[in-house]
Amino acid sequence: MRRAALVVAGAATLAAGTAAHASAAPPADGGTYTPQVVGGTQAAQGEFPWMVRLSMGCGGAMYTDQLVLTAAHCVNGTGNNTSITATYGVVDLQSSSKVTRQSTYVYRNPGYSTSAGGDWALIKLASPISGAATLPLATSTAYDSGTFTVIGWGAATEGGAQQRYLLKAQVPFVDDTTCKSSYPSMKTAVEICAGYPQGGTDTCQGDSGGPMVRRDGAGNWIQVGIVSYGQGCARPNYPGVYAQVSALSSAIATQAAQLGGGTTPPTGTVFSSSGTVTIPDLGTASANVVVSGISGNAPSALSVSVDIRHTYRGDLVVDLVAPNGTAFRLKNSSSSDSADNVIATYTVNASAVAANGTWKLRAQDVYSGDTGYIASAKLTF
Ligand code: ARG
Repeated sequence: MRRAALVVAGAATLAAGTAAHASAAPPADGGTYTPQVVGGTQAAQGEFPWMVRLSMGCGGAMYTDQLVLTAAHCVNGTGNNTSITATYGVVDLQSSSKVTRQSTYVYRNPGYSTSAGGDWALIKLASPISGAATLPLATSTAYDSGTFTVIGWGAATEGGAQQRYLLKAQVPFVDDTTCKSSYPSMKTAVEICAGYPQGGTDTCQGDSGGPMVRRDGAGNWIQVGIVSYGQGCARPNYPGVYAQVSALSSAIATQAAQLGGGTTPPTGTVFSSSGTVTIPDLGTASANVVVSGISGNAPSALSVSVDIRHTYRGDLVVDLVAPNGTAFRLKNSSSSDSADNVIATYTVNASAVAANGTWKLRAQDVYSGDTGYIASAKLTF
């Protein structure tokens, strides 16, 4: 359906690059480093759905639908703060389907400026991003090893410009002893390092506050680090240093509970769709969510988180279709609802159907004009 008039006049865009991160010195040691997150590739839309860009030139991750976890060094202090814009749901910061929220309050870990350290802060958004993807935190050291994925819109070369498109890269764990030999004042209790001995791949200025992640035993993303600091970017023998989430997660959870105002991530096993599915004009699209290993029937309060990007959401009828074909209506069409996107969490009583099998989030476009895509569907059993 076509809009009568343009509804949103360009809200403040997050132009790449802020003065604070505009420049950095070349490598003092005159060494070589591979220019090019550095050494990364572009992330796909929906690949890291909980990723957030913050307007001061940092990254962050959705911890609840109203709290963003970032680095302490990205914020000035604790207190009311309406100056930060968070951008969610896009890899392209100039995309018209981005979702933005202003901050309302910032909590900066008071221990950060002490010898205890801990480079983390929580930003409370003025209103929740209902249905937002959230990133669980590592609560033990079980995942503090292996290969990590880092993500951000920061510089792609040391001293380089901020990026319009989200970049990702993989970096291996570096043990504390090795890391301390590069950074003698590194705080092993609350910091974790990652990078190749030869350099070439790293986070960089503007990636701070963003998450370092890996897959947990069930194959889901889990946050193990927060981008904190490094000597230059991607230099040989200077890994990136990250706040060690496993050592900080209980303090973060306690503070998040006090800040309130957000829905904490539902507990249970989460199953997600993968990739995006185009919704053609006047067509139907389905995103599959494969559920396995759950005994018996689905819950009576099955949580269904939907992220559909569309330029006229009133065009859409959205159903959850169970493996046995039972359809649960999540949303009807409405010729007058011209707003963008369906980003919401629904609860359906699915206790009459078996849990295991392929569930489908189905979107039917019933009015001509306007198109979109299913970015993600997430079921919590
Ligand atoms: N402190 C930097 C920032 O504000 C992040 C530095 C990360 N550097 C590194 N070499 N891993 O964006």
